Amino acid sequence: MLKIVHMIETKTLANGFRYLFVSNKSATAKIALHGAHLFHYQRPPDPPLFYVSSTSHFENGKAIRGGIPVCWPWFGKHKSDSKLPQHGFARTTPWQCIETAESDNFTSELTLQLEDIQENDLLWPYKAELCLKIKISDTLTMQLITTNLDSRSFTISSALHSYFAISNIENVLVKGLNNTPFVDTLTMTHKQHSDDINISRETDRVYQDVHQPIELHDAERIIRIDNKGSKSVVLWNPWIEKNRQMADMADDDYKTMLCIETANAFKDVRTLVSGETHTLGMTIS
Ligand code: BG6
Repeated sequence: MLKIVHMIETKTLANGFRYLFVSNKSATAKIALHGAHLFHYQRPPDPPLFYVSSTSHFENGKAIRGGIPVCWPWFGKHKSDSKLPQHGFARTTPWQCIETAESDNFTSELTLQLEDIQENDLLWPYKAELCLKIKISDTLTMQLITTNLDSRSFTISSALHSYFAISNIENVLVKGLNNTPFVDTLTMTHKQHSDDINISRETDRVYQDVHQPIELHDAERIIRIDNKGSKSVVLWNPWIEKNRQMADMADDDYKTMLCIETANAFKDVRTLVSGETHTLGMTIS
C-alpha cells in the first residue's frame, strides 16, 4: 500500500509570523496565516511561479509584496472612504486553517477561513463567512468563497492578485485579452486593442467581460490562467518610476514581475442577498 507522507506543516518565524509549508510529489507551497497569502508555489524543476519582493514585510498585519494577496471585500480604493485600506482588509488580518486533505502523494488541499469578520465592523458592517480553498498539485487552484450571513444584501469586489515571476518584462507576451474592453485606470479611459500585449510602460488596467483563459508567454514557459466566477482581469506593472517609489520593492523589480489578477472589479462587482454564496476561482497551469 502507498504510504502517504505528512505534507502540511506549520512554521513560525522569529517574529511570530506563521505560515503553512506544503510539500508533495508535484509541488511545494507556502501560505501565510495572516492574509491567507500564498507566497510560494514551485513545481520542480521549474523556477518559482510567483514573484516575491526581497524587501517585502513578513509581519503580521502587513501585506506581503508578491505571491497572491487576497483583496476583499473591496478591490482597489474604498468607494467612499479613502482612509480605509486599499484592497480591503482580508490580506492583512488573521485566518485559520480549518481543513486539510491529502488524497494522494501528489495533491494537498487546504481550506482557510477569515477568523472574525465581526471584529472588522468599523471597516465593513456585515456578517459574512470568507473561505479560501487551495489545491496544490501540478496545477494550483484557488477558490475564494463568500457567503452572506447577514439579513441585508451586500456588494463585494475582490481579487486573487497574482504576482507572476517572469524572466524579464521584455520577454513576455500576454494572450487572451485582445478584443476585450478595458478601463485604463491611469487615465480612467475605456479602450480596447486587437493585439497580444507587450508591456513597455506603466500598466494598470481592468479588463471587463473576459470569458476566455489567459496565457502569459515567457522565454521558457507558458502560464495559463483559467478563471471562474470572474469576468474581470487586472493587469498591473508599476514600471520604473512607481517601482522606485515603492518601499517594499527593489528598484528593478518591475522587470521580473507581472500581475494578472483574477477579479470581480469595476462593473463585475457581485451583490449577494442574505444566504447567498459566491465563488471567485482560478486554476493556474
Ligand atoms: C493593483 C492595482 O491591483 O494593485 C494598482 O490595480 C495597485 O493600482 C496595485 O498599485 C498594488 O496595490 P498595493 O495596495 O498592494 O500597493
